[in-house]
Amino acid sequence: MHETFGKLSRTTAGAHAPDGTLDLPHRPRRNRRADWARRLTRETTLTVDDLIWPIFLIDGEMRREPVASMPGVERFSIDEAVRAVSEAAALGVPAVALFPFTDPELRDPDGREALNGGNLVCRALRALKREVPHIGLITDVALDPYTSHGHDGVLDGDRILNDATVELLVLQALTQAEAGADVIAPSDMMDGRVGAIRAGLDEAGRADVQIMAYAAKYASAFYGPFRDAIGTKKALVGDKKTYQMDPANGDEAEREAELDVAEGADMLMVKPGLPYLDIVRRLKDRFRMPTYAYQVSGEYAMIAAAAQNGWLDRDAAMLESLACFKRAGADGVLTYFAPEAARRMKER
Ligand code: PBG
Repeated sequence: MHETFGKLSRTTAGAHAPDGTLDLPHRPRRNRRADWARRLTRETTLTVDDLIWPIFLIDGEMRREPVASMPGVERFSIDEAVRAVSEAAALGVPAVALFPFTDPELRDPDGREALNGGNLVCRALRALKREVPHIGLITDVALDPYTSHGHDGVLDGDRILNDATVELLVLQALTQAEAGADVIAPSDMMDGRVGAIRAGLDEAGRADVQIMAYAAKYASAFYGPFRDAIGTKKALVGDKKTYQMDPANGDEAEREAELDVAEGADMLMVKPGLPYLDIVRRLKDRFRMPTYAYQVSGEYAMIAAAAQNGWLDRDAAMLESLACFKRAGADGVLTYFAPEAARRMKER
């Protein structure tokens, strides 16, 4: 007992100095004692350049519709989207990601509206390219906003058909690229879609369009509010577990990312975000690719709802959660907080 204490005293426990304080060999708190010291020793920094803003689109004009399960988030008609995206661009947000609420009348089992060059997303792309030319435009490739059953692919009975879906996804990507998409982000999790989309884009003379692969997208409960926002919640039959990944798996995320990199992905994404920071770190360390995390609708809703109840400080929780993505190795974050976070960072 006495001996153990003797050993400890040299390394951690310390002896008493004449003034009565402990004579500790290490005092990590020294580097935290003032703001200037904390700034000087900070390992990672969140900036506006790290933010991608996902927005929801609706038909019509001069319409802003709140999303009930995402307090502070609105769906925009195209003219309002142009206004909101201009503001985000002025704040320095580098890119936006577009998600349409498709009129239920336009949804069918094969999601044909996805291939319509005049659909909501394509019209928004053209307007945004014209009015806000310097912001990056990212579009989601997946059929779920357009299918009557809410799945990301086409069905045979209750089976999601992989290869038949991939053929449609390539056409969807080409339709979006044609309308002005800078980055194609396949979120469908079909096998082989990154390679097929890359080949399709290249053949169509669109070698400059980037692909941000949802490399590791999990079958998550945290997408609930998003499905409200784009109106697929009631439509969805069953779940997405035969194509989205099992939340229990990490090695599989590496295998998925390896395929996407081999198939030509320019950037990798992990989704959801905060519960999957270990996956962000693993992909970043292994592939050294530009790597992004999607702080999804349910993660936004948790912070927003707790803040609404006075249980969390909205600004502090928002900025802390975003900074943690950087620490975990992400190069950027898709977040519904993007313009708000940009504004707060500017004020500081
Ligand atoms: C659809 C898609 C989803 C999200 C982005 N693209 C939902 C899903 O897979 O059901 C979720 C985003 C969020 O929750 O914020 N392919």
